[in-house]
Amino acid sequence: SLSKGKIEFENVSFSYKGAVGDPVIKNFSFTCLPGQTVGIIGSTGAGKSSLIQLIPRFYDVTSGAIRVNDIDVKDWDVKELREKIAVVPQKNILFTGTVIENIRWGKEDATFEEIADASKVAEAHDFISAFPEGYETRLGQGGVNLSGGQKQRVSIARALVRKPEILILDDCTSAVDVATESRIKESLKRYAENTTCLLIAQRISSVMDADQIIVLENGEMVGYGHHEELLKSCKVYQEILQS
Ligand code: CTP
Repeated sequence: SLSKGKIEFENVSFSYKGAVGDPVIKNFSFTCLPGQTVGIIGSTGAGKSSLIQLIPRFYDVTSGAIRVNDIDVKDWDVKELREKIAVVPQKNILFTGTVIENIRWGKEDATFEEIADASKVAEAHDFISAFPEGYETRLGQGGVNLSGGQKQRVSIARALVRKPEILILDDCTSAVDVATESRIKESLKRYAENTTCLLIAQRISSVMDADQIIVLENGEMVGYGHHEELLKSCKVYQEILQS
């Protein structure tokens, strides 16, 4: 359908329960069209992670509304809603088990081919294949310890194998070198062509080719547009570039 992967925020404000002071997200409105890639950038504590966690209802808005595929998230069956959305969180969440078990988690019926495809896009297939036991290699206790960047790439493969309508990458390439990150993004364009992607990042280079970029500061949208537009018009964006 035409609304598959569409996300709308309408005057969304959000405070964590029991928190005093300013809301973490303030009167935020935004529409992300199906298949678009939207970058979200802003300094630490700006509210980026909080914002995206409202979409799969890890938290609920304090006021305003979020719609996914034109339906208010409060009217979705939460399980169905979450099946459409894959979030790769900032802190990786791999468990003690084999590589393949970790990637298949959340999509138990994935075939080996699907797992290998997702891993290739995430630039994880080559290092996994280089282990003597390949995808059967055990991670964690009594097994292999992956580097931070390798863990992030396995986490991305786990999200991709689910073929979500909405893919949210929350600063999950921070430990991946810039060249590898750029290859992942190139492959993603093909693999997730019709997937709506939200890309949270600290580095401008990670979001500069997104269809739209949101600049967030203190829970407010202080800039919105393409890289070139923001370079000209958004002071906060220029500051992030120079930092
Ligand atoms: N916060 C909170 N309770 C939480 C998570 C976050 O009170 N469980 C607060 C933080 O202290 C911060 C604000 O919410 O003041 C926004 O945090 P966050 O959404 O994590 O900001 P990010 O922009 O994602 O910051 P970072 O880049 O450091 O992840």
